[in-house]
Amino acid sequence: MNKLYLLGLLASLLYLPALADSPRVALQDKQIFIANLMQQMTLEEKIGQLRLISIGGEEMPKERLIEEIAAGHVGGTFNSVTRTENRPLQDAAVNSSRLKIPLFFAYDIVHGHRTIFPISLAQASSWDMQAIAKSARISAIEASADGIDMTFAPMVDISRDPRWGRTSEGLGEDPYLVSRIAKVMVKAYQGDSLQAPDSLMASVKHFALYGAVEGGRDYNIVDMSPVRMYQAYLPPYRAAIDAGAGGVMIALNSINGTPATANTWLLQDLLRKDWGFKGITISDHGAIGELLKHGVARNGREAAKLAIKAGVDMSMHDELYRQELPKLIASGEVKQQEIDNAVRDVLGAKYDMGLFEDPYRRIGSAADDPADTNAESRLHRAEARDMARRSLVLLKNENQTLPLKKHGTIALIGPLADAPIDILGSWAAAGLPRQSVSLLKGLREALGDQAQLIHARGANITNDQRIVDYLNVISFWEPEVVQDKRSPAAMIAEAVEAAEQADVIVAAVGESRSMSHEAVSRTSLDIPASQRALLAALKATGKPLVLVLMNGRPLALQGEQEQADAILETWFSGTEGGHAIADVLFGDYNPSGKLPISFPRSPGQIPTYYNHPRIGRPFNPEKPDHYTSQYFEEPNGPLYPFGYGLSYTEFSLSGLTLSSRTLQRNATLDASVTLKNTGQRDGETVVQLYIQDITASLIRPVKELKNFQKVMLKAGEEKIIHFTITEDDLKFYNIHLEQVAEPGEFNVQIGLDSETVQEQRFELL
Ligand code: BGC
Repeated sequence: MNKLYLLGLLASLLYLPALADSPRVALQDKQIFIANLMQQMTLEEKIGQLRLISIGGEEMPKERLIEEIAAGHVGGTFNSVTRTENRPLQDAAVNSSRLKIPLFFAYDIVHGHRTIFPISLAQASSWDMQAIAKSARISAIEASADGIDMTFAPMVDISRDPRWGRTSEGLGEDPYLVSRIAKVMVKAYQGDSLQAPDSLMASVKHFALYGAVEGGRDYNIVDMSPVRMYQAYLPPYRAAIDAGAGGVMIALNSINGTPATANTWLLQDLLRKDWGFKGITISDHGAIGELLKHGVARNGREAAKLAIKAGVDMSMHDELYRQELPKLIASGEVKQQEIDNAVRDVLGAKYDMGLFEDPYRRIGSAADDPADTNAESRLHRAEARDMARRSLVLLKNENQTLPLKKHGTIALIGPLADAPIDILGSWAAAGLPRQSVSLLKGLREALGDQAQLIHARGANITNDQRIVDYLNVISFWEPEVVQDKRSPAAMIAEAVEAAEQADVIVAAVGESRSMSHEAVSRTSLDIPASQRALLAALKATGKPLVLVLMNGRPLALQGEQEQADAILETWFSGTEGGHAIADVLFGDYNPSGKLPISFPRSPGQIPTYYNHPRIGRPFNPEKPDHYTSQYFEEPNGPLYPFGYGLSYTEFSLSGLTLSSRTLQRNATLDASVTLKNTGQRDGETVVQLYIQDITASLIRPVKELKNFQKVMLKAGEEKIIHFTITEDDLKFYNIHLEQVAEPGEFNVQIGLDSETVQEQRFELL
């Protein structure tokens, strides 16, 4: 501990004895400590704190990094994932730099660190807040044990356009569900105290509206009305911040003509003033430099000026702050105060993470380093398997094709059957493919010698070499998409031969994980042609056909819905994916997942989100009318709606009852419904409560999710499910962006998906 820490601590201690429990005093300690520290800092050292370096990035060769840290030119780093990598960097900061200010270490822990949980979109399909919390908590425990202090997560960008590859990283289309999960994840990453050695500071991303890029093309513009922004896209970021997220990562896109990175309204008026955010803001990778490409800065100097003035505290993978801020201060274009504000936030984050008290809080001592960072004992397989099982969504199950019996012969076919890299999903942090359980492995272990399992690849992910080359640009294990050199016809012939010997075909098809990632937007949502040809050949055998889908976005599955006897959506299910899928296929676990995003019939229908605003000529399937809003080539509405997912048992809902026909302000209304498990097996389902505002001063959505409960019922059991409705559930942003609940009538709808619902009406007085 150096002199400075002591000084600051001493100052804090003077306040402590009398008012030890007061949060105001704790905050004052922090402010005093930071003010003391900042008084000693040179401008160069201050600017150094604003720099976040990507380990292994071309910006800073490793050899130079230590020197730069020792010179006080670095605030934090990201992408190093072991204590042994981080320790020498921290040593350089606390032993060699003049003021000994510790670094912080960040990483993209989006759905796991070493144990990889299902991708975020899959976790959202569980609608299971406890399981999601557990996954995030374990991720924090594993990452902090590797010397990491901050995660760039949760990613809460609402996505209503599945062409966008980053749909896979998010939590779906619904502001309520995403907000609930955002809150749970932040609390789980950060734990009870950010200072705890097993806590990770959460930097929610990407602020804001990144999921609404035009046409679903990554990095494109966002142009959106303020009402839509407030109503549908901003709530999840707000929820994360209200839950205490210490950081915010700024989005790469522009919003209504101003890049987020230069957006004073976004970063100051909304984030700081309206929402009261007190933490650290971090640019996305190279985003300050990109202000030139956006065309709002003529040169690096203008870019740095715009970003610092807008409120970007830290520049990620970008030299511009370091190069330009000294000159901007000298010329008076940037005020000292503006730099100080940013530095205060960075130091504040470090203070909150407990790094001033102990810079090695998460790095620990060398004597305690794990002998093998990838040791099996460091993984949390049981929890990953549990989360994965809860994330799977049964989309179709005709003639009770599923669950499969553990006897006879099963043909497992498809390019994703034995795909240990793909099953991890994108942004798989420090997860290793060699530790993941492929579907082939999962089925083998589940079957033992009870049944025969024949495996054939059947097809490549795609036969289009241009696409393979594109996907392999972002390979982490070279190359990610490996082509089987045999001809497509030979592979299909082998698969058909296998299928003919089997009682049932399990076809693992969909996308490689690299198809659902950053910088991978699609124009089609089809399963690639190579795999569709395989499916057609398998179908022709006449054997029961079970599709196990792996993909990171909704796909257009009209053909497959007709072809397959059963379809299980498994997304990318993580380290334990193969075991979890086997559990569901053989009925050792009864699927309970529900879609957090609508599946369009074809990309032409996009956007297909369920909670779209009302219109003057709505299409009514019961009374189709020419002059109503529809596409004439195919049925209106999604193939699988938001909230949809089957079970191996059957559930019925009946008797929706409201405790009153009117709701007084500040009072509550009880909505109850009887849920019955009418099938033969125990099972879980999600009871969903939607509200429709019948008439308002602004157009309101056709319905909006306002609550849900995941309920387990034994076969034959029934239960009355209660929901409490309050004025808050009826609020929306009016034309003046005030949150109001207007008097009038509302429909309460309760269902097991967003389309098939029971309805009752009440009036808000
Ligand atoms: C992504 C962010 C990510 C960052 C650091 C960027 O390309 O947009 O989501 O956190 O890289 O890895």
